[in-house]
Amino acid sequence: MNHPTFQRPIFKSRVVPVIVISEVSQAVPMAHALLAGGIDVMEITLRHRAGLAAIEAVANNAPQMHVGAGTVTRAAEMQQVHDAGARFALSPGMSDALVQAAMDCRMPFMPGVMTPSEVMRARDHGFGLMKLFPAAQAGGMAMLKAMSGPLGDVQFCPTGGVTPENMAAFLKLSNVAMVGGSWLTPADAVAAQDWARITALAKEALAQVPGLQ
Ligand code: 3PG
Repeated sequence: MNHPTFQRPIFKSRVVPVIVISEVSQAVPMAHALLAGGIDVMEITLRHRAGLAAIEAVANNAPQMHVGAGTVTRAAEMQQVHDAGARFALSPGMSDALVQAAMDCRMPFMPGVMTPSEVMRARDHGFGLMKLFPAAQAGGMAMLKAMSGPLGDVQFCPTGGVTPENMAAFLKLSNVAMVGGSWLTPADAVAAQDWARITALAKEALAQVPGLQ
């Protein structure tokens, strides 16, 4: 397989904000707020119809931000997020059609997995970095520790149930490259355009990343 997998992060931050944007106008100020807090990556999900335009706005107006597309679950969406300017794509799962679509448009892709068999299937496709989703329901840190033995060559981005309180413990695990979570961009702060709060949350998160203190 010669497709652009996500063998190692293409951005600096080990904390990936998972974002649902309902107003395109919120996207660029949010990107700048996160950058001001030291976070150079954002996963804008396709859960809202504004997602695609939000990705495009960030790609065009905040070049320092590594904007990725999240919740990419259908093959046709891969080309759409590519054309919008996403630098990578994530999915809660993996399908052959999605992998093929990522190959076709050479999009770095992080598939979602939840079981050892899914990890092995993704690894067969050439992926070395996978999203563990939903991380808490999949067994959280205990699951990651259990997989670090038999599947120790795979790195994960646990997402779903990661919090400011447990993120450092996740990041200390040998097979956790980064964590994802929605707590960095709370809906009330976004609605109020309280970008200073988002910058503060980003700084607080980075202060917890092992080795960055
Ligand atoms: C989600 O499902 O929205 C993401 O995985 C983020 O999960 P979280 O809200 O638990 O951080």
